[in-house]
Amino acid sequence: MKKVVVLFAILTMVLSAFSITITMTAGAVGRELEVLNEQVEMFMKENPDITVNVLPMPNSSTDRHDLYVTYLASGTPDPDVLMLDVIWPAEFSPFLVDLTDDYDYFGLDGFFPGTVASNTVDGSLVAVPWFTDAGILYYRKDLLEKYGYDVPETWDELYTIAKDISQKEGIEGFVWQGARYEGLTCDVMEFVHSFGGEIMKDGEVVVDDPEYYDNNVAAITFMDKLIEDGVSPRGVTTYMEEEARRIFQNGDAVFMRNWPYAWSLVNAPESPVAGKVGITVLPKGPEPDGRNSATLGGWNLGINANSSAAEVEASKKLIKFLLSKEQQVYKAVYSGQTPTMIEAYNDPRTIEANPFYADLLDVFLNAEPRPISPIYAEISYEIQVAVHEVLTQQAEPEDALNNLAENLKSIVE
Ligand code: GLC
Repeated sequence: MKKVVVLFAILTMVLSAFSITITMTAGAVGRELEVLNEQVEMFMKENPDITVNVLPMPNSSTDRHDLYVTYLASGTPDPDVLMLDVIWPAEFSPFLVDLTDDYDYFGLDGFFPGTVASNTVDGSLVAVPWFTDAGILYYRKDLLEKYGYDVPETWDELYTIAKDISQKEGIEGFVWQGARYEGLTCDVMEFVHSFGGEIMKDGEVVVDDPEYYDNNVAAITFMDKLIEDGVSPRGVTTYMEEEARRIFQNGDAVFMRNWPYAWSLVNAPESPVAGKVGITVLPKGPEPDGRNSATLGGWNLGINANSSAAEVEASKKLIKFLLSKEQQVYKAVYSGQTPTMIEAYNDPRTIEANPFYADLLDVFLNAEPRPISPIYAEISYEIQVAVHEVLTQQAEPEDALNNLAENLKSIVE
């Protein structure tokens, strides 16, 4: 008996000498965290020498960003695997392991090229694309049918339908992300682009450029009008993705702007609107410059440059596992997050769970990036402040945009 105990102790010591623990940051929007925990369990079963601790982060991308600044600037070796918003690689690249030589190891040839390009900073691959996002319009098929409306193609049509149905049904018209955080910048870019406006172009501030100014003013005025006229609730100025999703999923709104993850949740068996929802591109602004636009979102995986060589090695294994076709399909099916690998996107299991992928491939391929800059966080902050002031009746659109132009120029130029 004694012998067995001693043998067991020696075995545990030997195993622990070869085993390693790594930490990975995680999002918790919708079913995201639950699904990642399941995936990590699968990974640890296949790799008994690696233990992965999952560290949940706040839902707001802006709050996550600020936490990362704290972690990375202090030079701590944890967390090892970092979930990075698509807008961050330029800023965080100095703190990340260079993955340029691992391009083939991760099989990136089979990925949507735009998602790989957005992780390449000055020719170096600093992170790899995990899932992609594009802003889309969710609508209540049943209610549009009941009141004899077609799916709106322009913002004016959406306004009219939302106002009419919301009044008749006693629910909200249109919910979106109006809190002062990164999600507001995403929505603002969609309104601005779809009205033919532009805030920055090729690194230059063009908010007040005569080519774009009037369209920019029209876009922000329209956002404000949605709230002023009760088409969107006043509370929208405090909503992030999940607040909008809960209202829509509860059956309390006609339209919602959100990312693809909401699809599986609004159609879950316990959802009051399951089977009653359609998805389409976000509407166009008015002629002559109006067009469809979706903001490009998504999250990447990078490795902390302060992690030890062994931790980097284990982190790469975990990332390769999460990026594999089977795991991307798993994520698409169970948390509704869009694959970055083309084969996983087109897999019948993915399409069955997310039938709109088949029609909206163009939306994903043409989604428009936010300004690319190492000081993106500051640029976005200025956009959020300016527009939020308009939405909360503290400024007129013209004044807010003039101030925005001035503030952006002072930080960019
Ligand atoms: C989603 C997008 C991300 C964006 C964020 C804003 O998570 O994938 O790119 O910054 O929403 O709330």
